[in-house]
Amino acid sequence: MNRVYIKTYGCQMNERDSEAVAALLRARGYRIVQDENACDVMLLNTCSVRDMAEQKAIGKAGYAAQKKKRNPRFLLGILGCMAQNRGASLLDALPDVDLIVGTQKFHQVPDYLDNLRAAQAAGAPLPTSIVDIAEEAGSQNTIRDHVLEDRQVTAFVSIQQGCNMDCAFCIVPKTRGDERSRPMEEIVRECEELAERGVREITLLGQIVTSYGRRDYAHTDGVTPFVQLLERVNAIPGIKRIRFTSPHPRGFKDDLIQAYGRLEKLCEYVHLPMQSGSDRILKAMNRPYSRDRYRQIVDDLRRVRPDMYFSTDIIVGFPGETDEEFAQTRELFAACNYDMAYIFKYSIRTGTPAADMGDQIPDEVKEARNAELLAILQANSNRRNATLLGTTQEVLVEGPDKKGLGFMGRTRGNRIVHFAASDRLIGELVPVKIDRVSTAVLYGQLELAGVKV
Ligand code: SAH
Ligand code: F3S
Repeated sequence: MNRVYIKTYGCQMNERDSEAVAALLRARGYRIVQDENACDVMLLNTCSVRDMAEQKAIGKAGYAAQKKKRNPRFLLGILGCMAQNRGASLLDALPDVDLIVGTQKFHQVPDYLDNLRAAQAAGAPLPTSIVDIAEEAGSQNTIRDHVLEDRQVTAFVSIQQGCNMDCAFCIVPKTRGDERSRPMEEIVRECEELAERGVREITLLGQIVTSYGRRDYAHTDGVTPFVQLLERVNAIPGIKRIRFTSPHPRGFKDDLIQAYGRLEKLCEYVHLPMQSGSDRILKAMNRPYSRDRYRQIVDDLRRVRPDMYFSTDIIVGFPGETDEEFAQTRELFAACNYDMAYIFKYSIRTGTPAADMGDQIPDEVKEARNAELLAILQANSNRRNATLLGTTQEVLVEGPDKKGLGFMGRTRGNRIVHFAASDRLIGELVPVKIDRVSTAVLYGQLELAGVKV
């Protein structure tokens, strides 16, 4: 039996990569299963951004390797960022891992599994593990196949791989390699095909999407290739909403800010990683903007879209971060009034410049700073949700909610809404009047004059 269970750690890019691997495996006759206790092949698609993410995957792999004792045909693979970061050295701690595949080789997974199976069938003891973490020109173009659930409404589309920014704390340039963009035509065609298959909302993905195509396409009348791509996707009739992640603050020039005023499908939700509100720390992080410039981008976007929603990434406890510097982060964080935020305690990543900076911050201090920002975020989020109470929001109906009690969808501001609806509304934009809110979700009633739900 070739039942494959794929477990994904980390970001949306990883989720997208796993989906593409699943699609390739299916096409090769493997079955993708959701139950890890009923699989013959387990693939862990891993994350290296923080040590905790690596430790989790290593723990899981150690545990999964025991399945080999009960089932000698069981195969275990480690894919993605940690595979790239640690390579064959993973075998020192995890000698039973059969497959280690880096971030530019996802498309090789079906061949490698076939090879391992063929060796088993020949009765040979398993060959030594397969390790492939080489670079491959054009590998960004291999993340294109989708496994869509029945009536899937939202989809991720990878537009780029890698990052050349070299933020001092970040392992991604090492795990994902140089920035490489996919051709605009291929991306647009993929979005069109998804629209034909019923997808209504596209999230464009990359490590630094605002740099999309900068080496491959010219600006047209001051419009960057990334905004040109947004225009193209905006023009696809079946697509109703567009999102993207992650951008870099330095990509928010006039053309992108104005795009929020003219591209009606571009949702008024921006993930704008701040990392720190201290100019000295930003410089040490090698982030090329100041707190004032960051604030100006937020203000400019709010001028174009007063109802803009913002989320951000913050690192607390970067080496040398003083109480005063953290206070500056806290102040800017509060001023920007985020609807959502991902707050990280700095984690040493071997091989990055920040790992060798002295003055590492004690855990308790990181923890306390983390808690302070979380409290501000929760208050902001509650305040935002309270303002939504009684309003009518445009909701894209995604499908039945997990509990099967009703339906769920999202507002343009990416708030989850629960409401009563019917199957035939899946994929439609509907008005929902919000009548109850919690910190995390909204509840409401469909407002369809004269239409029976
Ligand atoms: N551009 C990428 C960034 C990847 S890392 C993206 O698409 O999201 C995601 C976030 O993890 C970063 O924005 C940063 O806030 C956080 N991060 C990265 N390296 C980190 C480290 N060493 N310790 C703590 N947080 C880190
Ligand atoms: Fe990492 Fe900075 Fe790029 S956070 S992914 S090096 S923009």
